[in-house]
Amino acid sequence: MDHAAMQAEIRRLAKEKGAVILAHNYQRPEVQDVADFVGDSLGLSRQAAATTANMTVFCGVHFMAETAAILAPERPVILPDEEAGCPMADMVDVAGLEELKAEHPGAVVITYVNSSADVKAISDICCTSANAVDIIRSVPADKEIIFTPDRNLGTWAAQKAGRWVTVWPGFCPTHGLIGVDDVEKARLAHPGAKVVVHPECETDVVALADAVESTSGMIRFCQKDDSKEYIIGTELGMIHRLQKDCPGKTFHPLTQLTVCPNMKLITLEKVLKALQKEGPVVSVPEEVRVKALRAVQRMVEVGA
Ligand code: 13P
Ligand code: SF4
Repeated sequence: MDHAAMQAEIRRLAKEKGAVILAHNYQRPEVQDVADFVGDSLGLSRQAAATTANMTVFCGVHFMAETAAILAPERPVILPDEEAGCPMADMVDVAGLEELKAEHPGAVVITYVNSSADVKAISDICCTSANAVDIIRSVPADKEIIFTPDRNLGTWAAQKAGRWVTVWPGFCPTHGLIGVDDVEKARLAHPGAKVVVHPECETDVVALADAVESTSGMIRFCQKDDSKEYIIGTELGMIHRLQKDCPGKTFHPLTQLTVCPNMKLITLEKVLKALQKEGPVVSVPEEVRVKALRAVQRMVEVGA
């Protein structure tokens, strides 16, 4: 079956089964094009919480499907490839975070949504890259803050919020592939183009950018901004999204290396199979879910 035939069969089955298909902005173009909603982590969490569909097919990585299951346990959440994880989410564990919390008694723990349900369950509040600054600002000024697991997002957002935070040393290996020299080379190759990067990039790269945005923030920025040409520092799937949503503008990736292998595990074949089998289903033990829900609910409610 070619892409078009597979997309038609996916849409037919989704309708028959009353399934909603959500896709992250980093998904393959053909997967984005078959989805009901394409968005960033915050937007997709909100969609997952609000949908009245019978089931959610989540084209993204494991923590995203898990977050949907935390928010809406009554609805099966299907991840077309269970192996689609996130190395950054795996960089923080419960034992390590408990240890850090013991060293900072009374600190408010802010956990990036790129984390396991177990870690969310021992956190006070979650955030995404779209609302990290607002979430930090929402913490009373006299409270100490621990930010986990992304050291780059934590450092950037704290600076923007004018606060000091203790950061966990996690990072995204994909965004970590972008170096300062890439920014310099791209500016020389495309003079006048604005550099827009994701806050998961290393802080020395972030410092050179014209704008620092979450994936959906990049779309809003490029739509409103009056430049015609942009250099984009994030996962390559984003270029498809930007070209679709900003007609007449040109987008160059900062480097061709930023491919998230986990995001790319989801293919049309796997989405079709997942709909046929109604699995694999991602679920969270109820006792963990209830604790994680408090932190996730606050994330969905705040900002952006
Ligand atoms: P956002 O889409 O929320 O900006 O997140 C980027 C990301 O790396 C998700 O894994
Ligand atoms: Fe995780 Fe980075 Fe891939 Fe996002 S791009 S899912 S943070 S590895």
